[in-house]
Amino acid sequence: AATSVRAFQDLWIPPLITGKTFDLALGKSSKSLWPGATTHTYGYNDARFWGPTLVFEQGETVRINVKNNLDEPTTVHWHGLHLPAATDGGPHQLIAAGATWSPSFTVRNNAGTYWYHPHPHESTQKQIAMGAGGLIIIRDPIEAKLALPRAYGVDDIPLVLTSRRFNLADQFTFAGDNDKYGDFSLVNGTLDPKVSLPAQFVRLRILNAEIERGYQLGFSDNRKFYLIATDGGLVDKPVPLSRIKLMVGERIEILVDLSGDKPGATVDLMAYNARQPFGFPGGEPGRSPPNGSYLNNLDFRLLRVNVAAPTAAPITKLPPELTRNKFWSEADATERRTLNILRFGPPNREFAFDRKYYDMHTVNHVVKLGAVEAWTIVNDRTFGHSFHIHDVQFKIVARSDGPVPDYEQGWKDSLYIPRGQSATFVTRFDDFASDTDAFMYHCHMANHEDGGLMGQFLVV
Ligand code: C2O
Ligand code: CU
Repeated sequence: AATSVRAFQDLWIPPLITGKTFDLALGKSSKSLWPGATTHTYGYNDARFWGPTLVFEQGETVRINVKNNLDEPTTVHWHGLHLPAATDGGPHQLIAAGATWSPSFTVRNNAGTYWYHPHPHESTQKQIAMGAGGLIIIRDPIEAKLALPRAYGVDDIPLVLTSRRFNLADQFTFAGDNDKYGDFSLVNGTLDPKVSLPAQFVRLRILNAEIERGYQLGFSDNRKFYLIATDGGLVDKPVPLSRIKLMVGERIEILVDLSGDKPGATVDLMAYNARQPFGFPGGEPGRSPPNGSYLNNLDFRLLRVNVAAPTAAPITKLPPELTRNKFWSEADATERRTLNILRFGPPNREFAFDRKYYDMHTVNHVVKLGAVEAWTIVNDRTFGHSFHIHDVQFKIVARSDGPVPDYEQGWKDSLYIPRGQSATFVTRFDDFASDTDAFMYHCHMANHEDGGLMGQFLVV
């Protein structure tokens, strides 16, 4: 069983797929997550967990053939991407068992780290928990001109953070809503991972792919690192940090300077005080479901980094400037909306926006094409939630619990709202109008989303 795992395993780096046509097949897999065990999981393209990393070039038109080899329906949502609602892969674009869905769209987003995952209504948690998901790397001319690490798997490393519980037969104990805080940390599906990184600036692309747990990240020697990108691409300038919170659905890219480390040295990427969700008095250490986990309230290692010799052409300097983002301010907004997250229902159906559970046949908001809007998400006093909206990237302009932190000053599509707090973002709904195909907004804690904490909007 997993409790006997002690030896480090090599971090699995998801294979890259490039080009204009991509083939993904979601299926069951029974492979070893650690020596001597066979765990039943879901993965794309036969991955034992998770799936390949898709590389998109901004401006290209891509087609993705998604084959569903499960015996249940699925969908694939391109999280963070700006594209027509009919290609978005939300609950309406169901792919029946055995069927193939082939959306095509033009890549409009900035260079950055995005992801794809199943989104079938009421089965999202299960399919993500079983391992289905993958990263998307978008490249663009602005990012390409910068001296940044971009040798994938060498000095540019994807890190997908999650955790699972295992039973004595080495299987995930997925028991619906009650299993959301794993006892074993997995990075890219690897237990107790280690990776060799060259003694130079390295780039880590980190996704929180958890069901509910948030992370506070840092390094075991408290070294500084530099945030270079948020959910929707580069920030204006690298932001020096020694800790950062990364909540469900959010991505960051950071640069870490290993140039002063001797080959042979080690440093660990850590999760500090994984008490989750922040501001909720749950996440009890060691207690059984729903909110307990043997990782809660601990500082634990996510990844052992073994420093190796530098590469032939190392990145040795931090670029002082990365890009020039133009954000809207609250004054640009021509429409304001307030969404209230309320707790009122039975267990597993506890939360809804404005007391309306998600209904696939109800449009909750209608937005005018091209409108700049300010949305305030007000959270009740019972729990923290990770709000995510499809179609757009936004700028967080206000938080009720204090100033918007430096590391949230970039483009975002997901944001955490502690219990009893609210946050306001401004965005513009451009390009894709439809009278029939809706976009989603929801809590990215997949158990909450499945329970009805989701709504939909049309852009007309
Ligand atoms: Cu990452 Cu609506 O999802
Ligand atoms: Cu939630």
